[in-house]
Amino acid sequence: MGQLTGKTALITGGGSGIGQAIAKRYTAEGAKVVITGRRVAALQETVDLCPKGSVLPFAGDVQKPEDCEAMIKATVEFGGGKIDILVNNAGIDSPAGSVADLAPESFRKILETNLFGTFYTCHFAIPHFIAQGGGAIVNVASLAALRCPPALPAYIASKHGIVGLTQSIANDYGKYAIRANVICPGATATAMLENAMSGLAEQKGTDIPGALKFLTRFTPLQRAASVDEIAGAAVFFAGDDSTYITGAVLPIEGGASVVDPCGSSTSDAGLDWGGGQH
Ligand SMILES: NC(=O)c1ccc[n+]([C@@H]2O[C@H](COP(=O)([O-])OP(=O)(O)OC[C@H]3O[C@@H](n4cnc5c(N)ncnc54)[C@H](O)[C@@H]3O)[C@@H](O)[C@H]2O)c1
Repeated sequence: MGQLTGKTALITGGGSGIGQAIAKRYTAEGAKVVITGRRVAALQETVDLCPKGSVLPFAGDVQKPEDCEAMIKATVEFGGGKIDILVNNAGIDSPAGSVADLAPESFRKILETNLFGTFYTCHFAIPHFIAQGGGAIVNVASLAALRCPPALPAYIASKHGIVGLTQSIANDYGKYAIRANVICPGATATAMLENAMSGLAEQKGTDIPGALKFLTRFTPLQRAASVDEIAGAAVFFAGDDSTYITGAVLPIEGGASVVDPCGSSTSDAGLDWGGGQH
């Protein structure tokens, strides 16, 4: 407790799932947080789960640069003139479909939310970080930034892009004591995963637990993560235990990224990864 005392953070997509868990951990560690989402009403649950007065809900769409500028401004005001931590967590999944099947407008929307949104908030936060003498950026990518599940080109491209963007920031702004790191969750128990699992369940003629079992069959820990298992890393990268770490890419995926599913003649492995673990 107290790892983030005195710090102020912006968490995009803080109204649900991983973003909500990060907001809970950050405020438990002493931070004040601004959480954003497109509708302010959808942020209230997170406000109610955190200590009174520690969370400011703020409506904004990460696809819009002007909204991202307003989010940073609101965070600086809430922080009494400073922002210490930026967590880019807001994201959307792709409809399944390979490049020839994916509508150009879908590709654009996914890139604009997941990657451009991350760029916009960084663009507006970095001048504050420079003026203050430093800051920490924690970007939420995915196992799909490290491995390619089938038929998710937009999601994969957006998450690979987040890794490149983060490492570019780490390289260019390290001299200002700005650190930028990436966390790459594997399958994590949230509404996003449940949606993906209902599609896989239908495809495989099973139920959601059956689909999840199928999805995690090459994951050494053989289960999905809880949101709390992701939030801990976001605390680590924001706090004083990681002050010499920047540009890092941390998989939090139960070991899935180290497994070669085609690698053993004695396993039941096959080439069909059967939908994304992302
Ligand atoms: N759940 C998983 O299995 C998993 C795995 C890897 C990575 N991730 C990533 O974790 C992050 C959080 O996802 P989650 O699983 O908690 O799902 P989620 O759907 O609960 O959270 C996504 C959040 O982003 C917000 N959001 C979406 N579009 C937005 C926009 N245009 N403007 C502002 N906010 C917007 C939503 O309101 C929501 O609060 C995402 O970036 C996702 O890609 C999730």
